[in-house]
Amino acid sequence: MKSLAEYRQIIENEIQKQFFDIKKQPKELFEPIEYILAIGGKRLRPALCLLACNLFSHEIEHAVKPALALETFHNFTLLHDDIMDKSDMRRGNATVHKKWNENTAILSGDAMMILAYQMLEGIENKYLAQILSIFNQTSLDVCIGQQLDMNFEQLSLQKNEVPQSEYIEMISKKTSVLLAASLQMGAILGGASADQSEKLFQFGKNLGIAFQLQDDLLDVFGDEAVFGKKIGGDILANKKTFLLIKAYELIENKQVLNHWIQFFPEREDEKRKKIEGVREIYNSLKIKDLTEKEILFFFNNALAELENLDLDFNKKQVLKDFANHLLNRQK
Ligand code: IPE
Ligand code: IPE
Ligand code: MG
Ligand code: MG
Ligand code: MG
Repeated sequence: MKSLAEYRQIIENEIQKQFFDIKKQPKELFEPIEYILAIGGKRLRPALCLLACNLFSHEIEHAVKPALALETFHNFTLLHDDIMDKSDMRRGNATVHKKWNENTAILSGDAMMILAYQMLEGIENKYLAQILSIFNQTSLDVCIGQQLDMNFEQLSLQKNEVPQSEYIEMISKKTSVLLAASLQMGAILGGASADQSEKLFQFGKNLGIAFQLQDDLLDVFGDEAVFGKKIGGDILANKKTFLLIKAYELIENKQVLNHWIQFFPEREDEKRKKIEGVREIYNSLKIKDLTEKEILFFFNNALAELENLDLDFNKKQVLKDFANHLLNRQK
């Protein structure tokens, strides 16, 4: 087995080869793609794909392009997500629609999705149909999750319109299925049985839910310079995150929270006030601790899935180490 740093290096090399070495035309379409891939990113999905392949096979070369397909697809979703969420900052830099414009982010995003599919073309015939089916179902789930995320922005928690179970379903689709599918695809390419790759998918799904809960937490309590995204974006967009759902559940005087939710600031100082106001409520209700507990719940669910996997101790440890690495992330 290789280390996480080694999987990442393989991906960086492939990004260099596929995107940076060849200057494609027109530059208006391809420069934003190079840009988003050059400004960083943790490369979790391709690393998971290579790691999963490596659990079942010494040979991982044939999984490199599919792994990059996952990263390319992920970055495409970010371009569109940042338009939908009106986010100005990603990976510590301007988002594509801010640096260029919305049309550019839409079209470069579309091209990235197609490029992702191109990277799957070379998959061996015996795996191709299976991989495509997982990739397609996952892509559709991401769209469904993203639509639910936007629908929820408009709903009221005072009327309990977004129960916790529906929030979990939403984040499971918008975020965790892609992480889970990365593992599943890697496992299949490594020759794992359907049963084993499905169990890895379940491990990834639980880990992915913990991952999005953590993203929601960092969006409020993270360090902007490390996280690379503007802190408080979810509060400004009235995102129905676990934090807000819990706060509505626990707060005695709902009017105080309603006041902030019904306030749509335009000026920067007003935006800061809304973020501060909601954060104070979270602090008074110990929402951070409760979210951390929830993260741990799904993290432990993920670890429990490993029990059913037919892998030796050391290989399971690699997955546990990866999960622990995610649990302690600040970005
Ligand atoms: C960001 O994903 C979008 C979410 C699903 C929360 P990552 O946190 O993996 O983003 P990068 O690729 O490392 O920038
Ligand atoms: C993103 O969720 C999920 C997808 C991009 C599909 P968020 O909107 O929370 O991700 P960030 O915080 O912008 O990275
Ligand atoms: Mg979003
Ligand atoms: Mg977003
Ligand atoms: Mg987020």
